[in-house]
Amino acid sequence: QISEIHADNISPSTIVIAGWVRTKRGSKKFSFLEINDGTCAKSLQVIVDANLPNYAEVEKLTTGCSLKIEGNLVLSPGKGQKYEMQASSIEVFGFADPETFPLQKKEMTLEYLRENAHMRARTSTFSSIFRIRSRVSFAIHRFFVEKGFCYVHTPLLTTADGEGAGESFKVTNFDLANVPKTKDGKVDFEKDFFSEPSMLCVTGQLEGELLTMGMNKVYTFGPTFRAENSNTSRHLAEFWMVEPEVAFADIEDNMNLAQDMIRYVVSDILENCHDDIDVCIQKNQIDTRQYLRMALENPFIRVSYTEAIDILKKCGKEFENPLFWGCDLKSEHERYLCEEHFKSPTIVYDYPEEQKAFYMYLNDDGKTVRAMDVLMPGIGEVVGGSQREDREDILKKRMKLKGIDAEHMDWYVSLRRFGSVPHAGFGLGLERLIMWITGMGNIRDVIPFPRTPGNCKF
Ligand code: 4AD
Ligand code: MG
Repeated sequence: QISEIHADNISPSTIVIAGWVRTKRGSKKFSFLEINDGTCAKSLQVIVDANLPNYAEVEKLTTGCSLKIEGNLVLSPGKGQKYEMQASSIEVFGFADPETFPLQKKEMTLEYLRENAHMRARTSTFSSIFRIRSRVSFAIHRFFVEKGFCYVHTPLLTTADGEGAGESFKVTNFDLANVPKTKDGKVDFEKDFFSEPSMLCVTGQLEGELLTMGMNKVYTFGPTFRAENSNTSRHLAEFWMVEPEVAFADIEDNMNLAQDMIRYVVSDILENCHDDIDVCIQKNQIDTRQYLRMALENPFIRVSYTEAIDILKKCGKEFENPLFWGCDLKSEHERYLCEEHFKSPTIVYDYPEEQKAFYMYLNDDGKTVRAMDVLMPGIGEVVGGSQREDREDILKKRMKLKGIDAEHMDWYVSLRRFGSVPHAGFGLGLERLIMWITGMGNIRDVIPFPRTPGNCKF
């Protein structure tokens, strides 16, 4: 693998590599190929002598062709690389017609590449992002396992809208052209696959809470689905969420856990993805490395919702959205707080009860709940979490207030009847964390196959 060569794991000798041509320069006597095999950000320069029996084939190579090369790894006299390869034989697997191959040698826009998402892994930017994504995912697993968490799997098919926001994709096996109806003309869900209305999960939290009540510290990490029809640069219809849930924990513990997890991931990436981070910095012209290092040095700012509103009111900036105690903090507010005011990752806690989901712990003031959002400069909300309401009577009251059928969800409510304990958890949007780490400005560019309104193709 080319990654092993650049990591100096291979001493100069006869080697075989297989990959794709990034660029070719050539003359009648020699050809220089830049080969990338997807294992790291760097390519390997290969020198091919015209003596090669199939040199005519080599001359036809263009960007995107795939091949296997055998040859000698030698110290390179050129600048910018330690090694290069002298080919002794080349086997071409597949040519790529330069007239129709969608990727060109010149810089392509991110919009153009999004239209050609099936080809993105072949570019240097996207292969770097997807390698960082892989590393971030494993770092998250390692963090929780080292902390003694149990990795649990929560269902993707469910009958509970865990956020109570009505933003779920409905699931059915009905023939949509011929939906069974009851006598009074309503959809007859009894005849549907699960015998009741079901959907794709918007969160794994509620089931995570069930498991935490026996397993103590758990986390789930999987795809999550939301039918929010918001065509923004930070919303996907299918995104990945990490959701830890901890028994005997409060909001303070929860804030510490979120901060520790994010910092663990950041230091792992800074240490292990040097070249891939360089590719992102070059592409976006944003020095992510500098702000990531700063996030390791300074604790995240913590500010209550009430203090945040005060800061926003006093800052003198005109916002598009209304600003008053009780309002929903919009992206512009969130970004002002962390980007311009604190210039740091910022945790806002104790939000107005009306703004937040039914399961959050009601504070003694009766007006706020123990919610917390982690906001990142350039992105806004990356984490949303809370201490959970563990008192049955109050939980039922808040469910009623929000029009949620507590009886239908008694499996959830009943936790509070049998050995209830204070507990807390959060959800971190994987793609938003990767946006912050890579400096990419559009969430569609940090997931291989983005699902957004009108786009579920490849
Ligand atoms: O704030 P949210 O809605 O919280 C929950 O779902 C809780 N049940 C989590 C928990 O406490 N276990 O979502 C959590 C995070 C957000 O902060 C955001 O990063 C991400 O999930 N997220 C999205 N990411 C991409 N596209 C979307 N449509 C997203 N919706 C939420
Ligand atoms: Mg949220």
